Amino acid sequence: MMKTLKEIHKIREEKRKELDLRKNTNADTREKHILVCHGTGCTSSKSPQILENFKKIIKEKNIENVRVIKTGCFGLCAKGPIVIVRPEDTFYANCKPEDCEEIIQSHIIEGKVVERLLAKDIDGTKVQKLDDLSFYKKQKRIALKNCGMINPEDIDEYIAFDGYKALEEVLKNWTPEDVIKTVSDSRFKRKRWSWFSNRQKMGTN
Ligand code: FES
Repeated sequence: MMKTLKEIHKIREEKRKELDLRKNTNADTREKHILVCHGTGCTSSKSPQILENFKKIIKEKNIENVRVIKTGCFGLCAKGPIVIVRPEDTFYANCKPEDCEEIIQSHIIEGKVVERLLAKDIDGTKVQKLDDLSFYKKQKRIALKNCGMINPEDIDEYIAFDGYKALEEVLKNWTPEDVIKTVSDSRFKRKRWSWFSNRQKMGTN
């Protein structure tokens, strides 16, 4: 168990190098990470079986440098189960357990994207990356920016992507008053307040 900031820094530094390809689409590596959504929607559409199938095929074919990781919700449950291959960030939608074989053979072994599993945008065009969808282009995730990027059951992955950094900053440099002021000044508070006010005006509270 971690007890000091030094230990957290060590984990962050080591793990971040290992996970760089999750964020860096130009990462210079032979390794690939297959991210399988395990949010509620995808789980109910058999994503755990998809994850197991990938692991089984990788083992049977003795493939090296490929990891299969469960993630939280990517935010587009209607296209689930979702599978993303990084570092190239290829986004496969509505995957089925029986699609794993083709993804491994075509994408991982032969380096060819499985076109039929790419998601369609609202105008019918196929997109290669989640961020290329119209639905995502105007969005910026803040609190959930790492959801879909890390394994939520692995604390080291959380630390690698700056987990506990805010707490560290507060413990080292802030007074209790600083914390209260920051929370009071936050846009979140103002937005929540205006949401409640509007509900009251509409008589829905
Ligand atoms: S549950 Fe998989 S995208 Fe939301």
